[in-house]
Formats: sequence, C-alpha cells, structure tokens
Amino acid sequence: MKVDGKNIILILLAGGVGDRLGSKTSKQMIKIDNMTVLEKCICSFIDNLKNIKILIVSNNKDFSKIKNIAHKYKLLEPIIGGKTRHESVYNALTFLKKDAPEFVLVHDSARPIVTKKVLENLIGSINQNYTCVIPILPLNDSIRRAYNDEIHNVVNRQDKVIVQTPQLCNYKELVKAHKNSMEIYEDESSLLMSKGIKIMTVEGDPRSLKITYENDFKLLEPYLTINSKYITVIGNGFDIHRFDLTKKNTENFIKLGGIKIPHIRPLIGHSDADVLLHAITDSILGAVNQGDIGKLFPPSDIKWKNSESSIFLKHASDLLQKLNGKINNIDAVIICEKPKILDYSDLIQNNIAQILNINPKRISIKGKTSESLGFIGRQEGIAAMVNASIKINENIYDDK
Ligand code: CTP
Ligand code: MG
Repeated sequence: MKVDGKNIILILLAGGVGDRLGSKTSKQMIKIDNMTVLEKCICSFIDNLKNIKILIVSNNKDFSKIKNIAHKYKLLEPIIGGKTRHESVYNALTFLKKDAPEFVLVHDSARPIVTKKVLENLIGSINQNYTCVIPILPLNDSIRRAYNDEIHNVVNRQDKVIVQTPQLCNYKELVKAHKNSMEIYEDESSLLMSKGIKIMTVEGDPRSLKITYENDFKLLEPYLTINSKYITVIGNGFDIHRFDLTKKNTENFIKLGGIKIPHIRPLIGHSDADVLLHAITDSILGAVNQGDIGKLFPPSDIKWKNSESSIFLKHASDLLQKLNGKINNIDAVIICEKPKILDYSDLIQNNIAQILNINPKRISIKGKTSESLGFIGRQEGIAAMVNASIKINENIYDDK
C-alpha cells in the first residue's frame, strides 16, 4: 500500500509510562526478542504503508532512547507528549502545523500489532471523505455492570463495540475539535463525536490488543515472536588447576565459584585460578559458539594477571544477553579430595546466580572426590566439569 500523495502522517503515541503494568520499564520500551514493543509497532506500519511519515510522541524518561529509535528507522524527530493521551495528541497536532497533512493516523504504541487488512480498510475509506474512521470489534462475551464484588445490571451487548486504534482523522477537523474543547477525551473519535461529527467504522483485529496488564503480554506473545523460534543449545566446560605444592600454610585459600575457601595450598593460575568459574564461563561460551576463555582472555596478556574470574563469567553473561539468550540451567561438578564442596555449595550457588543475575535454583553445584586415585586423589589439583543449557533464538545461525 502506498501512501505517497495521500498526505498522511502517523502519530505514534508513546507518551505514557504504563502505570497499570507496574513495570519499571514503560510498556512500549519492553523488549521481546531484542526489539522494543515500540519498534514492533513501527515495523507493523512501515511493512504495510510504504513511505509513511511517522512522528513518535515520547514521555520524558524514554526520550533519548526514542530519539535513537526514530533515527534508526528514519522517522520524523520525536516530540515530548503531555500529561494525558489527549494532550500528547494535541502536542503532535501542533507540531505538525508546518506539515499540514490532510489526514493523521493516531495510534497507541501499546498496540504493537497492526494488520495490513485493518490499514487497508482505513486508508481505503479516505476517498469517501469521512472525517474520522476507526477500527472496531464486536463484543463476544456478555456484559454486566458490577461493583463491590456484585453484579448490578445486565447490559445488552447487541450494539456495543470495542474501539481500537489507529484512528484515521482529518487533520484540520481534529485540530479544530481540540481547540474548541475544554474536556479531556479518551481518543480522537470520542472528541470528534462530541462536536457532532459522524464516526465511521471498519473491522478491527483482536490482535491489535492494547497492552495494559501483564497478562496482555502473554496473550500477544505468539504474535510478537511470530518470526522467531527458540531452541535449546548446550555447552560444556572443563578446567583443571594445580596446587602450589611448595606452599603449606593454614593461611592459604583457594577461590571456587568466586567464594574464598581456606585451604592449606593455593591453586596456581594466571588469574585467580577459579576452576569452577572458568568451566562455567567456557560452558556458556561453548553453547553459543563464541570461543573460550583462553581465546577471549589470553594468559599471555598481562592484563588478566591475578584477575577475579567473575570478570570472565560476567563477560560471557553480557555476551549471552546481547545474543538474547537465556540460561535454562547450569549443572557443575567440582572434583577434589578437599575441601568438602557440600559445605560451600549454597554459598557458591548464590554467588554465581548473582553474577549471572538468574534464580539460584537454575544452578546445581556438586562435589565429587576421585577416591584417592590419580592427580586429584594425590591432591595435586582440582578439576571442574560443567554443562550449561541455554534458550536462544535460532536466528543466531542465520548468515548476516
Ligand atoms: N499515552 C501518551 N501520553 C500520555 C498517556 C498515554 O502518549 N500522557 C499513550 C501511551 O503511550 C499508549 C496510549 O497513549 O500508547 C494508550 O494509553 P495507555 O494504554 O493508557 O498507556 P499508559 O498511559 O502508558 O498506561 P497506564 O494508563 O497504565 O499508565
Ligand atoms: Mg494511560
């Protein structure tokens, strides 16, 4: 669908902060598959309306991020909205004075799914000279009036409909209605209706649901992740460090899982010789095929001398986050005669969970002796073996 020559601008409302969702992040800035709801919404439009001009109305707190998004998709410079949706729309209309479009489409970015069919229905009605056309849906469930945990009235649903966005409006008429109104209206159609203007309807789409509460995200998830398929990948990590047999002192300690544990001999290593953190780091890197600890932090580099190994694990975790992967679980075994791992496993589990910012229940830490056999049995060193399971979008294997 081409909108060239139709002189139409999309006002994309992102001026709210999503109080009812109760999340620190505004609902339009929440990421699904590494893409914000706002961007999903932008794509719904640019995929279907070639060359549509888009003006995002932002809140204060997300303005710099929204500016970046506007630049990324080559949109108009975004503006700041007002205290209410009504005011945010007014700010946009005022800003567009110089462009003087014939029509505006006003859309809630909290409705990330906008279908081609609904847009076709709306744009198709332009030639019929309507002032305002909106998408609606029938109500399928029964309606009642209820308060104080009690039903009070039965409401006939026959002529009731659900109103959605985008709402297509004649720009001049909408500006005029705003200027002549002291009241705050929920949307463009209710404002225009208050001025006696006829509102025309087209069929909406249930997928254009407005995200308001947590459950709405769950309902929309299959549509928001439609192009992505998650797979489970696994990685394993293994590491050994030797004890410094020249030392024997009760003041010595070793590091396991970032926890300092008293031991008569220290472990030798370029960094802090934390076998467990090294093996976990390698298991994560291996699962997403991003090399290993030796490649990323070469022992030849003086920079890593005596480093805390939590740095390596944090790096692997950040890398995983960039790839939009999530750890399902980590299962680790530390093989040594001493110390007794069980005495420290809870501490280690919690510390690793903190570094990775995941629930400790996803991490299992087990100890095993080597029955006095071999180098571990002779207490010459410690080994760790780890498996990591990770959920990731299979598009990491796509050629860029
Ligand atoms: N909106 C806006 N400016 C405001 C308030 C809302 O541009 N001052 C936008 C929202 O960003 C959203 C749309 O209007 O895309 C519909 O509003 P709503 O669902 O109420 O979103 P919020 O106001 O963000 O949510 P809440 O009411 O739960 O705080
Ligand atoms: Mg609101």
